[in-house]
Amino acid sequence: MSKLKIGILGSGAGSNMQSIVDAIEAGELDAEIRLVMADVPDAKILDRARRHSIPCRYLDCAPWKTKLEGPAEDLCISLLKEADVDTVVLAGFMRIVKPGLLGAFPGRVINIHPALLPAFPGVHGWTQALDYGCKVAGVTVHFVDAGTDTGPIIVQRAVPVMEDDTPETLHARIQVQEHIAYPEALRLIASGRCRIDGRRVRIAPPQS
Ligand code: GAR
Repeated sequence: MSKLKIGILGSGAGSNMQSIVDAIEAGELDAEIRLVMADVPDAKILDRARRHSIPCRYLDCAPWKTKLEGPAEDLCISLLKEADVDTVVLAGFMRIVKPGLLGAFPGRVINIHPALLPAFPGVHGWTQALDYGCKVAGVTVHFVDAGTDTGPIIVQRAVPVMEDDTPETLHARIQVQEHIAYPEALRLIASGRCRIDGRRVRIAPPQS
């Protein structure tokens, strides 16, 4: 068991970050959020961090539009190291992270994806599931590897797709499960019960 020292990267509303904050504040997750960074200057995730007095800042990722690379990646790594982060949590971070960040935090970069991987990687997983005609959709929390949404899976949670679903209603239903799944996955990591074994994440039984 060790208290996680978390750095969060996000781009949007930050509801997943909020679920992690809430779990910590409720004493349900042994962790501390040491730094939050967003690649969008007015992202709501930064407002949420400020409201909880969590150090936060905008990370300018130009000129790249879809990845974290070059000087921005270097800066990101040095800020995370300065903040003594040991676990990097991607919470709605809409960029591909590259080997530099993954090498700086080996096996310690986690992502949440709004689909049941390996189905529907990439953007708008819930819309992809709806357009495909799926009857079940969901969320995946996984370790990040060099591919896009391909890393070993820690937790998945499913939701039904309803007849009258729109992309918005389905995403809202998935998000309810995201807010359970992310704290759950981080709790497993904090407890030391997670071990990556090839493609599989082995979860040891809880110690009594
Ligand atoms: C979440 O639905 C998350 O799964 C998704 O972005 C949303 C962020 O919401 N992430 C991805 O699509 C990553 N490929 P939030 O800002 O409220 O946490």
